[in-house]
Amino acid sequence: MANSQALSESIHAERILILDFGSQYTQLIARRVRETRVYCEIHPYDMTLEEIRDFDPKGVILSGGHQSVYDEESPQPAEGIFDLGLPILGICYGMQLMAHHLGGEVEGSDRREYGHALIRQSGVDLKVPFSAFFNESQHNVWMSHGDHVVNLPEGFEVVASSDNAPVVAMQHRARQLYGVQFHPEVNHTEKGEALVYSFSREVCGCNGEWTPGHFIDYVIADVRERIGKDRVLLGLSGGVDSSVVAALLHRAIGDQLTCVFVDNGLLRLNEGDEVMATFKEHMGVKVIRVDAEARFLSLLAGEDDPEKKRKIIGHTFIEIFEEEANKITDVSWLAQGTIYPDVIESAGAKTKVAANIKSHHNVGGLPERMGLKLLEPLRELFKDEVREVGVELGLPRQMIYRHPFPGPGLGVRILGEVKKEYADLLRAADAIYMDELYKADEYDKIGQAFTVFLPVRSTGVMGDGRSYDYVVALRAVVTKDYMTAAWHPMPYELLSKISNRIINEVPGINRVVYDITSKPPGTIEWE
Ligand code: XMP
Repeated sequence: MANSQALSESIHAERILILDFGSQYTQLIARRVRETRVYCEIHPYDMTLEEIRDFDPKGVILSGGHQSVYDEESPQPAEGIFDLGLPILGICYGMQLMAHHLGGEVEGSDRREYGHALIRQSGVDLKVPFSAFFNESQHNVWMSHGDHVVNLPEGFEVVASSDNAPVVAMQHRARQLYGVQFHPEVNHTEKGEALVYSFSREVCGCNGEWTPGHFIDYVIADVRERIGKDRVLLGLSGGVDSSVVAALLHRAIGDQLTCVFVDNGLLRLNEGDEVMATFKEHMGVKVIRVDAEARFLSLLAGEDDPEKKRKIIGHTFIEIFEEEANKITDVSWLAQGTIYPDVIESAGAKTKVAANIKSHHNVGGLPERMGLKLLEPLRELFKDEVREVGVELGLPRQMIYRHPFPGPGLGVRILGEVKKEYADLLRAADAIYMDELYKADEYDKIGQAFTVFLPVRSTGVMGDGRSYDYVVALRAVVTKDYMTAAWHPMPYELLSKISNRIINEVPGINRVVYDITSKPPGTIEWE
């Protein structure tokens, strides 16, 4: 097999630089570029010319941003960026910067244009990438801007305009400089992906080496070189990221990898057995299963405060993980399933203050305390890419495309105090809910669906007698980023089927309700 340097060059050499001017869509631009099988990275807008030259991109995309180019404090790119001879695509604020820096004029507006817009071609000969984008005189796009370009810089021509803005797309006649006022990265822009594809593959001349197969070959070679004969420890949760790390590292270093899987008693029905079957029995991965249900439940007994419950579960997990790790001698690396959005967010977190609405537990600080080196083989990947790599590695599709499951598990889906009896009822109800969603082909239309246990009892009639049992709520939301979410319009017949099955098959539950709260004002989980 080729060495990691050669493999890295073949997949990373073709790279696009995305400069971030603060748009909410910057990550989406990067994902669209990666979908064209071209590697790209997001960097802060003030990257210097020297840093840009060192990065050696095949092309640059300037993201949108919410400021006005004339604001004193507005983010500006390095002086001279437009003279580097690189292809550049400016999106929204990025296009306004291009116009402004090259001698054009941008006009402020009190009115924001937000949402769908119809744009019309001007009739000029279209250069690539626009020739791949327009095929009718009118085109439906997604807009989100206040200011707009009114006068073009020397050498540019108007490609398209709208009722609200005289320039919504522009191209330089001779140089590879392009601007769009709309957002090609957003799904609502018709054929937006064709514009991004044409820019990254045709204008920038990239061949599309960034494929799951190439990535796997590169990471395997890289890990082997870095690790040598060392041993690696991984906390396996059964979630997508840690599962893909386990499969990838197993392929790279086989028995040098040891996984620790902590069963906290707050997992879904049969989840522990399924994780062991997939990894240990099926793939031959060395996995230590720690059955810690009793320990978690006794620490949670009597506690009904959501934040305290989260902290207990998080701390206990780390304690147990460390105890197990200490039993394994001569380990020198700790692997983690960090992915690219975590990397971007922790870089951004240095400058931004995020509201801590719920404390999400993580294992930050663990490697230092345990004296281990950190191995993060998925650091460069977006979630959709992690999934593709997982499928390529042969992991079951159902595991890879499962909805996200919170670290504290059923601990935050049993309201108030957690008891084994409640967890067992909830597991049984949730398994029925999921089974019906899969059978009705509804599962993949939903971002996250689960059952919540309400520790209140209500009366019912069962046969000839009365029942006095617990309630479960069904939750299903559609969401892109889990920051906002809408409740899913579940078909009535399906709701009826799920409710009947839960009440008939789970003694102890006699009432099922459907949650119709969006986020905000609700959160996705109930605690
Ligand atoms: P909320 O409830 O805040 O959830 O709207 C947003 C997303 O985060 C997940 N979530 C968690 N994940 N530890 C996690 O690892 C947690 O403590 C936690 N709380 C919420 C939730 O499932 C949803 O996907």
